[in-house]
Amino acid sequence: MVEFLKVSIELAPSILAADFARLGEQVCSAGQGGASVIHVDIMDGHFVPNLTLGPPVVKSLRKVTALPLDCHLMIENPDEFIPAFADAGANWMSVHQEVCLHLNRTLHLIKSHGCLAGVVINPATPVSTLEEVLDIADYVLVMSVNPGFGAQKFIPSTLHKMRRLAEIRSQRGLNFRIEVDGGVAHDTVADVVRAGAEILVAGNAVFGSGDPKKNAQELLQAAMEATMVRV
Ligand code: DX5
Ligand code: ZN
Repeated sequence: MVEFLKVSIELAPSILAADFARLGEQVCSAGQGGASVIHVDIMDGHFVPNLTLGPPVVKSLRKVTALPLDCHLMIENPDEFIPAFADAGANWMSVHQEVCLHLNRTLHLIKSHGCLAGVVINPATPVSTLEEVLDIADYVLVMSVNPGFGAQKFIPSTLHKMRRLAEIRSQRGLNFRIEVDGGVAHDTVADVVRAGAEILVAGNAVFGSGDPKKNAQELLQAAMEATMVRV
């Protein structure tokens, strides 16, 4: 008999791997392929060794898609920029545990701007560091690569953190969702879904080559198939 795991999977393509000269068109194409969230990687050249974009690009994206914009803030001083990203049209915002001295305050700041608040952990950061904020986070993002670049190799030792988060959520009766980011592609998607990830960020696998619509459809299909369990 085949049963389905009780999860609702969402695909969140990361625009980091898109062609920025055709950003609107590529985002719409991923949406037609079933993507339901757009992941926007914000890098400051300090917390991570790369630079990307700021509120003006979020503002432009807001005009071309109705999908929620999930802003992953890989920046050292998120409190300073949260209002500007909210004004630009962000719907979800996540901050790294590693940079937030006052994580509780920062998550509340995000919520005070009407956005869903997420907390992110790097591959070397344990789930236990989140114990006191899991009841206020709307989602937890488990990095499955070291942040900073797209198209890196998935780190399998991060899978146990998705499992642990799912376990804690059910033990404590909490509601946060579990997102995964980094190296999510055809060869890893089943593992992350079975470990408990529900929001799947994928850059290279959607925008790297070929048609984003077809890539998104195929990745979602593989994720759905992974929710089928033989019993
Ligand atoms: C990495 C970013 C990711 C990245 C994912 O620092 O946070 O969102 O763009 O890209 P892929 O799917 O190519 O690993
Ligand atoms: Zn990201």
